[in-house]
Amino acid sequence: MVGKIKKKILITGIQGMLGQDLSQVFDLDYEVYGIDINPAGDGKSRFFSSDITDRKALELLFSQIKPAMVIHGAAFTNVDLAETEPEQARAVNVLGTENIAFLSNKYNAKLIFISTDYVFDGNKTTPYLETDIPNPISYYGRSKLEAEQCISKYLTEYIIVRTSWLFGINGKNFVKAIINKARNDGALKVVNDQIGSPTYTLNLAQGLFWLIKAVFETEPEMSKYGIYHLTNSGQCSWFEFAQAILEITQIKASLDPVDSNFIARAAKRPKFSVLDKSRFEKITGKKLCVWKQGLEQYLLQEKNQAV
Ligand SMILES: NC(=O)c1ccc[n+]([C@@H]2O[C@H](COP(=O)([O-])OP(=O)(O)OC[C@H]3O[C@@H](n4cnc5c(N)ncnc54)[C@H](OP(=O)(O)O)[C@@H]3O)[C@@H](O)[C@H]2O)c1
Repeated sequence: MVGKIKKKILITGIQGMLGQDLSQVFDLDYEVYGIDINPAGDGKSRFFSSDITDRKALELLFSQIKPAMVIHGAAFTNVDLAETEPEQARAVNVLGTENIAFLSNKYNAKLIFISTDYVFDGNKTTPYLETDIPNPISYYGRSKLEAEQCISKYLTEYIIVRTSWLFGINGKNFVKAIINKARNDGALKVVNDQIGSPTYTLNLAQGLFWLIKAVFETEPEMSKYGIYHLTNSGQCSWFEFAQAILEITQIKASLDPVDSNFIARAAKRPKFSVLDKSRFEKITGKKLCVWKQGLEQYLLQEKNQAV
């Protein structure tokens, strides 16, 4: 029997926290190609070390791979460092994205861009809709918003997915930081005045898979393209997130809530950045689980990997 020919999907930032989970999920149904500034550790033949700010090198890869779709996740993701190194953040987040959008258009690939809740100022008290006007309060947020604008400048058949507060097995994240600090210091102070939706990258990758099937693998329809919000369900403060981590792992440590003013950080964060997911839920008929369930799944995966 002849096997099904798989479509080619190119994932940028394939070595990152989300990228590695995307690779795992999409591998089931697509021929996965990857680009990252970091080389693939295990010599995967379809993963290329390339800088998205280098259009020439990128074009060579596009012309050889000819992907049907691109998921663009590569980014300068250090929110505080972006305040002091804005040129570097802009080069990757804006110019790099412009390169990806230009080449996706030129090589006829459908594009999915991963954006952020930090495009909003956090002044709302109810979940942000895709139609709410962005007003970033950090350089990182501004650069991701400018990147969103590059996408719509070059393409019509695109998806922009704004997500938030990611944690995954393959990257530095809040969960690991809390566990380490609790084990090493036994005492933590965590901000209680920023509300958002923690999101497990494996759940997000599954959601992106459903979204791509619903938008790009069905009859083309303009009304399906554009911006989607996608995170785990529910909301909490960073303090409540830390509380849940200690509760599930049963690590004993003292945990105190503090105001954000107490912790000096270069970049401002929105006080409230919960995203409304109804558009995603309507088009896919699916919903990501509650963040606490995502956290339990993540901690189980960590435990299994440690064995
Ligand atoms: N983390 C969050 O909480 C969060 C929240 C909302 C949205 N997002 C968005 O979600 C996406 C994935 O986030 P993540 O946390 O998984 O990020 P990540 O772990 O930092 O992964 C991004 C990957 O892109 C690579 N990269 C950086 N500059 C590059 C360049 N010039 N050319 C090629 N590759 C480059 C990074 O390499 P280096 O590690 O060497 O820089 C890294 O491997 C990003 O677009 C981010 O903006 C993240």
